[in-house]
Amino acid sequence: MLVLALETSCDDTSVALVDHTGYVFGVATANQDTLHDVFGGVVPEIAGRKHLEQATVLIDQLFKKTGTVLNDIDGVVATQRPGLIGSLIVGLVTAKTLSLSIRKPFIGVHHIEGHILSAFLKDEPGEETKLLDNPYVALVVSGGHTHLYHVVQPHDYKLIGKTQDDAAGEAFDKFAKMLNLGYPGGVKVDRLAQFGNKESFHFPRSLLKNGNYDFSFSGLKSSAQRTLSTLTEPFPKEDLCAAYQESIVDVLSFKLFSAAESLNVEHVVITGGVSANSRLRARAQEMANERGMQLIVPPLKYCTDNAAMIGFAGVLRLMKGESSPQDIAPQARAELR
Ligand code: KG4
Ligand code: ZN
Repeated sequence: MLVLALETSCDDTSVALVDHTGYVFGVATANQDTLHDVFGGVVPEIAGRKHLEQATVLIDQLFKKTGTVLNDIDGVVATQRPGLIGSLIVGLVTAKTLSLSIRKPFIGVHHIEGHILSAFLKDEPGEETKLLDNPYVALVVSGGHTHLYHVVQPHDYKLIGKTQDDAAGEAFDKFAKMLNLGYPGGVKVDRLAQFGNKESFHFPRSLLKNGNYDFSFSGLKSSAQRTLSTLTEPFPKEDLCAAYQESIVDVLSFKLFSAAESLNVEHVVITGGVSANSRLRARAQEMANERGMQLIVPPLKYCTDNAAMIGFAGVLRLMKGESSPQDIAPQARAELR
């Protein structure tokens, strides 16, 4: 089953063709980073307008690139929740209209379900992913989320912990802003950290207690502000980035693997923009090896927002016989269940 998917929940306009095995037939994404960079964060009004300019242009490009036509598609998927309302509307209206025009089902999906399933996407055709049938623990770490789920069986998500304040990506972005590295800052901190010494500064690790799967990054941010106020420019940016990143990576990997051990699962998944972090990937791989567990992370290009993951979430639900009514509305906030 092949679907066309749209992701427009925040500041990336993305369209993709994906099948029920997670094979990505094609994807086209237009990133808005430079538009929002000058404001130091995403401006909702600008994001919505840009999605409107880009969405159908990208679909046209994707069809041409893959030699696909509308009638090859078995369904249309869009992110329905959570996200910026003006941005979600663009993807939803486009998906609903296309589905009506070809008389194929439409489904609106949860953005986080897409992130979780992004770990199982592949660029080569293949079999259905058997791993999806076994229970696992999934850490979703992005600019808006730091959520830990126990995925008991397909489509059965139990939220076991989440951030009480900033998301991990936000903690990276705010620190990058303090150092004037630009937005989005996570990848810039990651790059500089590779040349730094993580032992040269010490930042706090919050809520590191067994059995507590919630996160808190506001103390880390304040501690970084205090540290910077004691230093004179030029700052040792590489060392600061390495030490700050290590604090986030320590907390994320500790919580993920303590949950995995206590829930007795054999594989763990890390997804979302922050799962692109090179230190987090390396550290989690070491910890998985030590425990004989399998770590599954998305290919780098599917870590940040993309429509391939949304398509995979949608196609699996369409295969189960689910679909959404034409009058479904976007939701700014919604927990994944
Ligand atoms: O999943 P995503 O594209 O959008 C949201 O749903 O939020 O995640 C974006 C976040 C940003 O905060 C960005 O700084 C962070 O992911 N990010 C990284 C890296 N690449 C992206 N954080 C740390 N290291 C990276 N390499
Ligand atoms: Zn996201």
